[in-house]
Amino acid sequence: RVAKKQQQQTLQSTVQAACDFYRQQLPLHKHAMAYLQQRGLSPEIIAHYGIGYAPDGWQPLAQVFQPYPSMPLMESGMVLENENGRQYDRFRHRIMFPIRGVGGEVIGFGGRVLDDSKPKYLNSPDTPLFDKGKNLYGLHEARQTIKDVGRIVVVEGYMDVVALAQFGVGYAVAALGTATTAEHIKLLFRQTDSVYFCFDGDEAGRKAAWRALENALPQLKDDKSLYFLFLPEQHDPDSFVRQFGKMRFEEALLYESKPLSVYFWDALTANLDLNWQEGKAELVKSATPFLNQISQAPALAYLLKQELSHKTGIDPSNLAHLMGQA
Ligand code: UTP
Ligand code: MN
Ligand code: MN
Ligand code: MN
Ligand code: MN
Repeated sequence: RVAKKQQQQTLQSTVQAACDFYRQQLPLHKHAMAYLQQRGLSPEIIAHYGIGYAPDGWQPLAQVFQPYPSMPLMESGMVLENENGRQYDRFRHRIMFPIRGVGGEVIGFGGRVLDDSKPKYLNSPDTPLFDKGKNLYGLHEARQTIKDVGRIVVVEGYMDVVALAQFGVGYAVAALGTATTAEHIKLLFRQTDSVYFCFDGDEAGRKAAWRALENALPQLKDDKSLYFLFLPEQHDPDSFVRQFGKMRFEEALLYESKPLSVYFWDALTANLDLNWQEGKAELVKSATPFLNQISQAPALAYLLKQELSHKTGIDPSNLAHLMGQA
């Protein structure tokens, strides 16, 4: 255990040193500064999120780390090795977003290209420091604002978090290129009672919203609320707040988002005709496994089952019987 703790500290100081290097490099590279400016980010927001730049070339980190490579560079995912045994930096010629753990320490990075090349974003791999399923981008930076306003909005991307903050919505966080996990939901509910999901207004965003709902069901509590805001098709939170501003975004968040209980039925009944008995039967079958997972919010589970009874005309005791068998 002592060895593990020591390894973590070594990895931590390694990624911290890399983070410092990327931040120092940013003002030295005019094209990187121009890119951030063109995306509308101020020096204050760039500093608040610690955004930096990984220079071009195969081994930019060799400027900081001697000898290069080292075990901590490899183990923290900063350096890779090709088939010929040559080592090179994972992040080259990319805008760098440091990802912080719950204590504010840097644990990994997301890196964006400055043009249309692929992949658009690279992320640190999971390491002994960094577990994508357990951390949220921007949580440390947002913590004070979350306390002040009493809510969190979960978005898809790094740029969504940073752009919202730029426009005064300082309580956004993002899952790190993965689906929202049960661990994420627990972490979110530890911060606040009201969590809003606002993903991109495309098919991928809608899928991500449903995945978030599925993973949240076992974590729901009767004193916590989840809401889902669906943006217009071509927008993500970044483009939306840029076009319509903070007031409009928050108005949408507060008054046009759907609470979980509404989104749940909307999604499950979207392709069903409840005028037919077949549609009602299918709704019972599709809703049952979800409703049976809401074990920690008994009042909400009860009310949703009552609603199912209302939608199908099956009385509650018969419904309970059907749901037990499904
Ligand atoms: P998007 O494709 O919606 O990108 O991916 P974005 O955040 O709007 O980025 P901009 O505005 O073009 O800069 C959403 C998130 O999915 C992950 C990243 O976390 C990204 O922020 N992602 C996306 C990857 O990990 N790799 C990719 O190649 C693309
Ligand atoms: Mn801090
Ligand atoms: Mn997207
Ligand atoms: Mn997007
Ligand atoms: Mn975007």
